[in-house]
Amino acid sequence: MKLRQWPFRRRQTVIFTPDHSSTPPEPHLTVPRSIDDRARLTDTPYFLPKDAQEDTRLNFQHRALYAAIGNHYLAPLAPETDTILDVGTGTGIWPVEMSRLFPKAHTVGLDVSSSSFQFPSTAAYTFMIADILKGLPFPEKQFAFVHQRLLVAAIPTADWPAVIQELIRVTRPGGWIEILEIGVTIKNAGPETARLLEWMGNQSKQRGFDMGMVSQLGMLLVEAGVQDVEIQNIPAPLGAWGGHVGSMLKANVISAFNALKGVYCIQANILPEQFDAWVQSVAEEWETLHASYVFHAAYGRRASSL
Ligand SMILES: C[S@@+](CC[C@H](N)C(=O)[O-])C[C@H]1O[C@@H](n2cnc3c(N)ncnc32)[C@H](O)[C@@H]1O
Repeated sequence: MKLRQWPFRRRQTVIFTPDHSSTPPEPHLTVPRSIDDRARLTDTPYFLPKDAQEDTRLNFQHRALYAAIGNHYLAPLAPETDTILDVGTGTGIWPVEMSRLFPKAHTVGLDVSSSSFQFPSTAAYTFMIADILKGLPFPEKQFAFVHQRLLVAAIPTADWPAVIQELIRVTRPGGWIEILEIGVTIKNAGPETARLLEWMGNQSKQRGFDMGMVSQLGMLLVEAGVQDVEIQNIPAPLGAWGGHVGSMLKANVISAFNALKGVYCIQANILPEQFDAWVQSVAEEWETLHASYVFHAAYGRRASSL
């Protein structure tokens, strides 16, 4: 995969000013398949796998989210939005589809690793390597829209305030910042689901990640001085009882639990088969109780004075 160099040009115009001094080298790629025969990144706290199977899940999840929410973003963006940043872009499918919605914009998708990138950079979108935990390689006030989706397994709880400051820093005054996460909120969860979620939450906490904090994203934006903050907790059906969307989401959540399985089972010293059986009984509850998964989203504007 060839990565484009700074500065990115579109229609003979330099869109961003590079800041090479803060661009980190690409971290080490995948580790030997030791835990669960899944590849993972080293040198970063991110604990989901980083392999072809996970890339397939991320693209499927992108479709499931679109089916559940009906759009690729929530903030009230102006049609003339011209510069968009996607932090922790994964395969890059979000920038590619945003470029169709905003044909005049240039979108940058960045990730700590290029190993999942599936699209070559074009005049409309560019992919690059950067680590949000170490700071973004842009001068301040560059982007009209800064978007970050599903990085809860990448950002330790203690790092969230600094990450939000960094997202704000690269947003233009008056520009929008949007964060969307899934956590551990399932409505109409039965006892087995509640028990599994609590157990998973505890496993994550031992690693320094609090999955429950994703319901506080809006508060973090407000505390950081972001204006016009809107918080949306979006329930989506989880299970075939909810039709096409519910079936997609169920498949994705089971696949995500499976992606976490290796790390959690090693950590808690339980057999993968036990975990599989647990997830199976939990998924049956979703159907009988008509469970819904809750997406936590928050967006707001960078104040002109910030
Ligand atoms: C669960 S995936 C979500 C991908 C994408 N946002 C989406 O919604 O499809 C998380 C992504 O964040 C990336 N990531 C993990 N730690 C990161 C970091 N410190 N800085 C930037 N990206 C990171 C991972 O490599 C992975 O591609």
